[in-house]
Amino acid sequence: MSKKIKVGIIGVGTIGSVHADAYNKLEDAQLHALCDINPERLAEKAKKHNVSKTYATYQELLADPEIEAVSICTPNNTHAPLAIAAFQAGKHVMLEKPMTLNAELGQQICAARDQAGKQLQMGMVWRQTPEAEVVKEAVEAGRLGEIYHIRVKLIRRRGIPGLGGWFTTKALSGGGGLIDIAVHFLDLAMWTSGLWEPTRVSAKTYSKFGSPMEKYNYVNMWAGPPQYDGTFDVDDYATGLVRFGDKATIVFEVAWACNAKDECYIELLGDKGGVKVGMGDTNILTEVDNRIADIHLTYNNERDRFAVELGKFLAAIRGEGPVAATGEEGVVVMRLLDAIYKSSEMNREVEV
Ligand SMILES: NC(=O)c1ccc[n+]([C@@H]2O[C@H](COP(=O)([O-])OP(=O)(O)OC[C@H]3O[C@@H](n4cnc5c(N)ncnc54)[C@H](O)[C@@H]3O)[C@@H](O)[C@H]2O)c1
Repeated sequence: MSKKIKVGIIGVGTIGSVHADAYNKLEDAQLHALCDINPERLAEKAKKHNVSKTYATYQELLADPEIEAVSICTPNNTHAPLAIAAFQAGKHVMLEKPMTLNAELGQQICAARDQAGKQLQMGMVWRQTPEAEVVKEAVEAGRLGEIYHIRVKLIRRRGIPGLGGWFTTKALSGGGGLIDIAVHFLDLAMWTSGLWEPTRVSAKTYSKFGSPMEKYNYVNMWAGPPQYDGTFDVDDYATGLVRFGDKATIVFEVAWACNAKDECYIELLGDKGGVKVGMGDTNILTEVDNRIADIHLTYNNERDRFAVELGKFLAAIRGEGPVAATGEEGVVVMRLLDAIYKSSEMNREVEV
């Protein structure tokens, strides 16, 4: 067995707990310490995940010389300062999505990584789903031919998380549904297709359901309950067209809330085949022997995608493989998100 890498987690809310469970499953990880500014939550999670060391501040955790790598699982506005501080303390960084609030901060994170000579992996966990993996393989094998268009659809009828809390406060989150959930699927669209050079965007974001907060009707709320004395100043719906020169396009539609049924997929259209990812069954719609045909792709679905993701992070630290999602790819996604928000604000197409 490889040497165990000692890991710390900063921020042990919803996703910090998911990281803790995943590290505890990995033979080459030793979950050494947890950190959170909420003392009750920190104590509760330390007990739950069987971790004896806890720190009330990230500075204290980063000063622990035994820790080699950290997962950063805090609100979006803290990603850049914490990641840069972690690199300055000589740690490897697993950074949850979205990378940060904008592309400029993303570049600063990459510069800090380069100066430290450490590994940075982005939290693009959808890449670790077996269906995304088989579609990427099919694209690389040329079975879809040239991909010229991608549809990204991520619709929640009523799915605003933590109304009034950090998710819906622009200064803390950077935006709403677009930066929170579309970030996964825009990354997935570019990763599966290999199209990494978006050039222009025409987009519009809306805010129709979150404000006034008291009027928002919902069935259940992730990261709730609502804080009616808090803030909602972010998008709950966004749509747009992204151009990749004259070669390809993405249309996207993302909603934290709208009057439509839930949907969640990306669909790649190539001149030899088309495929949807995110719908359960994965079928390449194509032609075989000059006849219209569907190829059904099968795969083993018994995997913990977070454990696979964190396993790749640890392997990269040992020099046994690449990180699962790079900082440079994170910056491209942030540039795209910046351009989408800018296009909406200016009411016209803009350069990425
Ligand atoms: N990959 C995914 O599928 C996925 C899913 C959910 C959330 N996320 C991302 O993970 C991050 C956290 O989201 P969450 O849902 O777990 O939020 P959360 O609010 O449940 O947890 C965040 C935790 O960070 C703590 N915290 C805040 N500032 C801190 C600081 N300076 N130092 C230490 N702790 C601090 C809070 O007290 C809280 O316990 C966000 O960036 C979010 O976008 C990713």
